[in-house]
Amino acid sequence: MNIIVTGGAGFIGNHVIRLLVNKYPNDLIVNVDKLTYAGNLENLRDVEKCSNYRFEKVDICDLDSILALMKKYEIEGVIHLAAESHVDRSIKDPFSFAQTNVMGTLSLLQAARLYWESRPERYEGKRFYHISTDEVYGALEMNHPEGGNEPGGGPWGSEFFTEDRRYQPHSPYSASKASSDHFVRAFHDTYGMPTVISNCSNNYGPYQFPEKLIPLFINNIRHRRPLPVYGKGENVRDWLYVEDHARAIDLIFHEGRVAETYNIGGFNEWKNIDLIKVLITTVDRLLGRPEGADMDLITFVTDRAGHDMRYAIDSTKLKQELGWQPSLQFEEGIEKTVKWYLDHQEWMDRITSGDYMKYYEEMYANR
Ligand code: NAD
Ligand code: TYD
Repeated sequence: MNIIVTGGAGFIGNHVIRLLVNKYPNDLIVNVDKLTYAGNLENLRDVEKCSNYRFEKVDICDLDSILALMKKYEIEGVIHLAAESHVDRSIKDPFSFAQTNVMGTLSLLQAARLYWESRPERYEGKRFYHISTDEVYGALEMNHPEGGNEPGGGPWGSEFFTEDRRYQPHSPYSASKASSDHFVRAFHDTYGMPTVISNCSNNYGPYQFPEKLIPLFINNIRHRRPLPVYGKGENVRDWLYVEDHARAIDLIFHEGRVAETYNIGGFNEWKNIDLIKVLITTVDRLLGRPEGADMDLITFVTDRAGHDMRYAIDSTKLKQELGWQPSLQFEEGIEKTVKWYLDHQEWMDRITSGDYMKYYEEMYANR
């Protein structure tokens, strides 16, 4: 197939591109990315010379340019990851989230529709796959703030997000993602476009932009800078290793049922404060510092506005229908992740200095 992956220079996108380019040498993988602050083409150095990979610096909101790309590459599938993705930024600037996440998704859907409907085979053999988040479902209760183990429940609460859960977004980020999910379903129901959606929990792993909790805190611990923990650090997130998400995306794109939604998560809930302590212990051990030497970096700061208390995904449907399950235990995944960031200080430094943004000009602009 000829496939557009949007947002391929971002955190999850580069793992998806790497997997597809290596696994399907006869497919053409076109990475469409505007290269915002979150896009880093250096993440894809290892695949940029592959004959089945192309990069196009295009904004998904630019319908005409997307339509031209659909025609140029005779696109049969779209895997849509491009988005503004950081909740704190959405609180400061909600409009850019509506623009990219809602209007951008709508432009992409419309471009796919116009191109596919102009072809004799129309929607046959086509697929539009939208990557979404568990945050659209809102927040779950903390029924057991001290931890409990009731049968069928999670450690901190009895409920999980299932695919039929009511949408109840709280942040401008999750509201924009919820809206984009509705547009994707509307394009299936109205025009018959073969769409599929997945909603995943928090990802962690290599190449995540260091504004998000895990890479930010690993870097701060390394440099002995304060760790700004929002509120009391009691909020719970459900963490999945990014390569496991990429494997799920591959599976759902190829084998998921049209018009379905699949939740993706590893049943791996952590209170922020407990996770942060694991990060401190791991960084200290790997750097040969005394155990717990950096615990005093923990600094409680004003809570995030509208901070969702608990996320927890039930991914039973994906396991039962498509046989997916996470490959990594959290202990193994977090060890790999901390080690990766400590071993890639230059990657981190090029982001903090802004040098990563020059890579496109140096490598692509004059081609
Ligand atoms: P990211 O912020 O790391 O990357 C986003 C990418 O999209 C960047 O490369 C950026 O340049 C590109 N982009 C932004 N606006 C664009 C535009 N207008 N046109 C073209 N490209 C544009 O995000 P991520 O963490 O990799 O998340 C990818 C997707 O997965 C998002 O849709 C997000 O909502 C979803 N998701 C993320 C997580 C997570 O934990 N990171 C969890 C569940 C779902
Ligand atoms: P984040 O990585 O921003 O992901 P999301 O908000 O999409 O879940 O944050 C993960 C959790 O960590 C979230 O509960 C907010 C919290 N957090 C902090 O306490 N301090 C920080 O500096 C950041 C970035 C996040």
